[in-house]
Amino acid sequence: MRRERKGQSFHQFKRESSVATFPNDFSQYVNMEDLPYFWPAGNFHVVTNLEEAKEALKNPLLSADRSSFFISRMPNMDLSLIQDFFSVVSKMMVMSDGEDHKRKRQAASGGFEDHVLERFKSKVEQSVEKLLKEAFIKEHIDFAHDVAKKLPSTVLADLFCIPDEDREDFFQNSIAMTAFFGGGTGYENSDGIKVNRAATALKEYFKKLIEKRRVSPQDDYVSSLLKVQERFKLTDDEIIAQAIMMLVAGQVTTTDQVCNIMFLLSTRSEDQKFLKEHPEKINHALEEYKRFDPAVTFIFRVANADTFIGDQPIKKGETVFISTHCANRSGLRDGDEINIEREGIQHLSYGYGAHYCIGAKLGRMEMTILFENLIKHYPMVKVLRASRDHYSLSFSGFSELMLERA
Ligand code: HEM
Repeated sequence: MRRERKGQSFHQFKRESSVATFPNDFSQYVNMEDLPYFWPAGNFHVVTNLEEAKEALKNPLLSADRSSFFISRMPNMDLSLIQDFFSVVSKMMVMSDGEDHKRKRQAASGGFEDHVLERFKSKVEQSVEKLLKEAFIKEHIDFAHDVAKKLPSTVLADLFCIPDEDREDFFQNSIAMTAFFGGGTGYENSDGIKVNRAATALKEYFKKLIEKRRVSPQDDYVSSLLKVQERFKLTDDEIIAQAIMMLVAGQVTTTDQVCNIMFLLSTRSEDQKFLKEHPEKINHALEEYKRFDPAVTFIFRVANADTFIGDQPIKKGETVFISTHCANRSGLRDGDEINIEREGIQHLSYGYGAHYCIGAKLGRMEMTILFENLIKHYPMVKVLRASRDHYSLSFSGFSELMLERA
């Protein structure tokens, strides 16, 4: 017998939740005695337990190809308006399974090897120094806009060696695509036109970039894909899709995670004091903040055959939502508390299994450099004004995070 639970829409709950009570209130709302259940309001199953979440993310019957779910969320949209968007998304490795996923993942991994990231580190350090210097000149520090949004867009544009004059368009188009991905509801034709325009623009941009890099390779991500194109039998369209995927997956996630961490740090002067005295513990603290308030709030899959999660039967075609908030708290008596000295921190904030975040090392590098610099060289801060941004079910960050010196 499958368990079911009724209630207010998750997205609505998130939107109505206050800065002070989120994410604990949301995590408690989503959880039902740590058991998987069906949620008719969203037409998906919900998994909250860490071990069952891991089991689900390793189950080959639960597919990463989520196009059927996206389509079901667009009853008011003319799907012919988003053909370019779909043609790009369907080729991304984040939507693929099995051998096809393995091939794309191996090809994509070259750009994220340790020696590549090590070479890239000094660029990230320079970007962080510049952004923090500029942000802290002001009396009120607009952290969300001046640091958290700009850092990943600069890093991603550097990863692709994009010239300065193209960067704003590049950033806006990647934001338009990511917002659409997040599993919102009630998409209209105008949303479709917007996202398709972004997909077409990025497709054209990368088509030209591929031609340029083929003639004169650089130390950039597209050149690294071209180097292995034959070996992994990648078509040009697949290279374009992989490149766009990096933009989409690496931008908003990092912005949101950086804001979530900064908000916690700014409201916890005791943590700031402790980390100033023990800067070697910063990375550990960052993992605890990510456990507590992940940027990706749900990871989802669609069943390509009848299966089970724990004792919950899942039918072919049904969608499964894995709550990172709940999984990150499961098994902990004090999971709703922050303890930056917690031992054995476990979280799903970068996913798990075959689709584990390929950019996790890059994301971690950006955050380590940013927060080390902040803690070591800048005064303590507190929150002046903050608003959460729950623009979609799958992501959570801040639309405003204004800070002042404490
Ligand atoms: C703090 C920042 C980040 C967070 C919280 C994050 C989170 C995640 C999560 C939860 C997944 C799993 C998705 C799933 O299983 O469906 C994922 C996958 C992925 N992430 Fe990240 N990510 C971050 C940064 C980045 C960066 C910087 C990049 C690249 C530049 C990136 C690229 C990807 C890609 C390509 C995948 C798909 C991997 C695959 O399908 O094999 N991410 N990320």
